[in-house]
Amino acid sequence: MFEISKGLRVLITGASGGIGQEIAKAFGNFGASVGVHYNHNKKDALEVVKDIISSGGLASAFAKDLLDVSDLSNLIQDFVNEYKGIDVLINNAGANIGNYHFLEIDPQSLTDTINLNYIAPFLLSREAFKFMKDSGGGRIINISSISAKFGGSLQSMHYAAAKSALESLTISLSKAGAEHNILVNTIRPGIIDTSFHNKAPKNNMEERIDLIPLKKMGTPEDIAQMVLFLTSSASNYITGQVFSVSGGE
Ligand SMILES: NC(=O)c1ccc[n+]([C@@H]2O[C@H](COP(=O)([O-])OP(=O)(O)OC[C@H]3O[C@@H](n4cnc5c(N)ncnc54)[C@H](OP(=O)(O)O)[C@@H]3O)[C@@H](O)[C@H]2O)c1
Repeated sequence: MFEISKGLRVLITGASGGIGQEIAKAFGNFGASVGVHYNHNKKDALEVVKDIISSGGLASAFAKDLLDVSDLSNLIQDFVNEYKGIDVLINNAGANIGNYHFLEIDPQSLTDTINLNYIAPFLLSREAFKFMKDSGGGRIINISSISAKFGGSLQSMHYAAAKSALESLTISLSKAGAEHNILVNTIRPGIIDTSFHNKAPKNNMEERIDLIPLKKMGTPEDIAQMVLFLTSSASNYITGQVFSVSGGE
């Protein structure tokens, strides 16, 4: 049976747009208390908050630039202060920073991409882990990318490598979490229809979609459904796994 506890306390990074926004709204429909994290896009984050409240959940927006990895524990602490704990952390915020050919990419883009897609989820998971451990368990879901499977393109190999590190972290954390009932899994989206792709104008999207066995992009809802499954009672015996939601790739 597919059951999601009412009142689940869920923090989603990068919930002001794209996949994260859809995940946040999906939890609103289950009466969750949702932390809508954002960086630049306050307006859309507040819209998501409004939407969740109108569908019966609780929600607040939390701002933080996840590139500043020197100071991330406050994000978890602020969420815990507001909702008196954390049951689910979804490390969704991510981007390919410096979409340049690997022969030309600058070291700062490499560092930023690794900080955003790997170091920030590591540090946020660690902080959330401490609270989950003391309160009988929780769930951590990392949003990776199908590029971790294929190694990315000539313009995104640094991003693919950061997501591969995130997948490895998933396995390590799942082992650390097992005795505390903290389940840790990863979802690997394929090509999903969000503004993520507006930042990569050089890509020929039609050719890319033709490589997908199902011959279409996925939707943010496709990923949100998988997140709901991984926080539901139907996944009580699943940890340390990577699930591709990618049209067959
Ligand atoms: N779309 C795809 O095809 C696809 C495929 C594979 C994997 N993914 C992964 O799925 C996740 C969500 O992607 P998406 O398509 O929804 O992307 P998106 O539409 O570009 O949204 C990205 C989100 O991440 C936040 N973010 C970006 N940089 C940040 C920073 N420095 N600090 C804090 N937050 C930051 C953004 O916040 P603000 O807008 O508020 O700044 C936004 O909420 C990412 O991890 C991405 O790598 C996406």
